[in-house]
Amino acid sequence: MKILSLYNLKGGVGKTTTAVNLAHAAARDGFNVLLCDLDPQGASTFYLQAAPPTKMKTGKLLKGKSFAHKQVRETEFIHLDVLPAHLEFRNLDRRLDEEKKSDTALASLFEGFHGDYDLIIADAPAGLTLLSENLFQLSDLVLVPTIPSTLSLNCFEQVSEFFKKEKLSKKKLKGFFSMADTRKRLHRESIEKVYHTPNNPFLEAVIPSASIVEQMGEQRRPVSAFARNSRAANAFGDLWNIVRAELKID
Ligand SMILES: Nc1ncnc2c1ncn2[C@@H]1O[C@H](COP(=O)(O)OP(=O)(O)O)[C@@H](O)[C@H]1O
Ligand SMILES: [Mg+2]
Repeated sequence: MKILSLYNLKGGVGKTTTAVNLAHAAARDGFNVLLCDLDPQGASTFYLQAAPPTKMKTGKLLKGKSFAHKQVRETEFIHLDVLPAHLEFRNLDRRLDEEKKSDTALASLFEGFHGDYDLIIADAPAGLTLLSENLFQLSDLVLVPTIPSTLSLNCFEQVSEFFKKEKLSKKKLKGFFSMADTRKRLHRESIEKVYHTPNNPFLEAVIPSASIVEQMGEQRRPVSAFARNSRAANAFGDLWNIVRAELKID
């Protein structure tokens, strides 16, 4: 079982959108996928029309096993389940802090799903918290959606510095461009510049800024479920193929 996290210090950069679309693409390839919506805002849960849990005890959830299993919801898509978010997840950090090995306390939750899923995709909230640290430790790949602009690229640098400081493997930290508007010179130049840096840590898939992606809110489905041949759906498909190769799953 592989663990993929969608992460950024910033909000509103495409973490949730990408988590949902990659989860759908992976499920369509026949992998059993669990999308863990760890953001109390619950946007992934909403997009996949999953019912939120009625009662949530984060302490119990972190232990994994039957309580965690009971929270899982099937989606309309074969092979794709969701662990829905709950407002209580805003206290996940405090909970993790109370655990002994606080930087890997999330491990039992994920381990509890071992054997049931080929891939866990974690949709993380913004910020640099204990929860993010847990995800950095436990993930096989940390994907950072980045808008092609100087400030967003600075954010990627900050995360990269954190990986260095904490001696986390930088090989598993990868960026990709999200919400790219190639009509903008700044976007085009930012992308070119990054692709030409030595040891470029960005995957070569670019998700365009497109109004069809925003329609996910009304459709409450991944883009490829309602606009299969759109440019955005193809871009998410390309990103999935690259991520799949990075994760080495087949
Ligand atoms: N490629 C895109 N093109 C246009 N709008 C997008 C795209 N990706 C995301 N959005 C929109 O931007 C907003 C933030 O995206 P979201 O995935 O929720 O970001 P995050 O999870 O990082 O906060 C949402 O309204 C979403 O519909
Ligand atoms: Mg989000």
